[in-house]
Amino acid sequence: MRNLLDRGVVEFAVGAAAGALLFRERQRRNIAERLAAAVLETLLRAIDANDGETGAHVRRVARYALILADAADLDASEQRNVERVALFHDIGKIDEALFDIIHDNSKLSPEELRAVRTHPQRGAEVLAPLAAFYPDLADGVLSHHERWDGKGYPRKLRANAIPMAARIVSIADSFDAMTFTRRYQNARSFEEATETLMTGRGTQFDPNLVDLFLSPPVIHAAMQVLQEDHHRPRPRRVPRTRDREAIPVPKLSFRWRTTTPAPHARGRGRRRSP
Ligand SMILES: [Fe+2]
Repeated sequence: MRNLLDRGVVEFAVGAAAGALLFRERQRRNIAERLAAAVLETLLRAIDANDGETGAHVRRVARYALILADAADLDASEQRNVERVALFHDIGKIDEALFDIIHDNSKLSPEELRAVRTHPQRGAEVLAPLAAFYPDLADGVLSHHERWDGKGYPRKLRANAIPMAARIVSIADSFDAMTFTRRYQNARSFEEATETLMTGRGTQFDPNLVDLFLSPPVIHAAMQVLQEDHHRPRPRRVPRTRDREAIPVPKLSFRWRTTTPAPHARGRGRRRSP
């Protein structure tokens, strides 16, 4: 009887300890997830502060991308990834090396075009430290200018080798680029935009996703977003910085970092402030 009682007490104690450990582990994971989400929110605000036009663009793209992701029956976690890729697909454009080129109204020279085309890699590099929390984010951002026919950049991925989130964001990005007036181009009509998507079906874009995007309920939802956003105030224009003096930056990195930045990420462009 005594033995039975002792065994019961031991089992209870082991069970309680395991439960407490599990609870603490869940709590730790929860805090880590909230911290990672807060980092993303901070990054998004940094995009807004640096360039309101890009901040507004990525939010519209995220709305179109989520409509399409939902129509494609992606589960909640995949949809969250699509949203993140959409919100950060152009984060590489806030790199100072590209800032003046992107905000210049004049036609891009071949050299400038080559520089702009580095923004997916630059974006992936910015997001790389978050890989432990969002393993598909940097790859989605890196792939958002790939094309279905393999003629995109930077890796010339083809068809289903392109991550799904990037294929969705590519359509949402193009739709917004065509339907929203920018400094350097007037918006095309809704009909022209849908025709252009149809033309890129199977060459630039995933054909099944184009069909889905142009299907009546999906395109109707996208049209609503388009109409809402046309009534919002436009973001402020960003002043040019080409003539600004370069400011030296002290070498400093977070203590938790154990890896050094990729060689091509070092010493690139001028830095505006520490
Ligand atoms: Fe882009």
